[in-house]
Amino acid sequence: MTAELSETIRGAAVAARGFMPTDEGDALWSAGVEAASAVAGAPFLEIGSYCGKSSIWLGAAAEAAGVVLFALDHHRGSEENQAGWEHHEPDLVDADIGRMDTLPHFRRTIFDAGLERSVVAVVGDSPTVGRFWNTPLALLFIDGGHGSEPAHRDYELWTPHVAPGGTLCIHDVFPDPADGGRPPYEIYLRALDDGFKERRAVGSMRVLTRA
Ligand SMILES: C[S@@+](CC[C@H](N)C(=O)[O-])C[C@H]1O[C@@H](n2cnc3c(N)ncnc32)[C@H](O)[C@@H]1O
Repeated sequence: MTAELSETIRGAAVAARGFMPTDEGDALWSAGVEAASAVAGAPFLEIGSYCGKSSIWLGAAAEAAGVVLFALDHHRGSEENQAGWEHHEPDLVDADIGRMDTLPHFRRTIFDAGLERSVVAVVGDSPTVGRFWNTPLALLFIDGGHGSEPAHRDYELWTPHVAPGGTLCIHDVFPDPADGGRPPYEIYLRALDDGFKERRAVGSMRVLTRA
């Protein structure tokens, strides 16, 4: 497949709120384009959409291939997004209920990027959805809870759904503990142990292929 990311959509991704450096987002786009040609017709799924930043890069690749991105998030924020933690953004709290709610921001981001047809929000808890998921994936992107339990659980529940030849992307992989938390790095090591092959490393993004 020959595909190019339009400057308009890329600009929307760069401008969107969230936690995705531009070079790593561009790596997601490339991974999506390659994944769609390796496993034709299968969807993508990301765990951890937040306000939709990474979803634009992946959703655009899905759209170019005529498939969809399932964007899974309970939209209540990870542990590290809660009040008192490093990545807390107070204006994302629904004051009426005192809980974070990134869903309206996500919807607006995807609408503004013109990707509503290709990005399907799945609003729920990753392990709950994962228990009932049954569809092989061309691409799985893990960027949900970064604590040990959530990261390892996402790895265990979701990687079996990556189709042969499919792609696994993991965000916030820091080999040096001084640069960030361990769990994403630990699940990256598990993936290598389990036979995934590394295709690309860009910043903290790792792109791997299932044999
Ligand atoms: C680091 S943010 C994702 C950043 C996003 N990919 C971006 O490009 O900005 C992690 C997200 O994972 C979500 N999350 C954490 N644990 C989850 C769970 N158990 N089920 C669903 N979503 C979860 C949080 O709500 C949060 O939005």
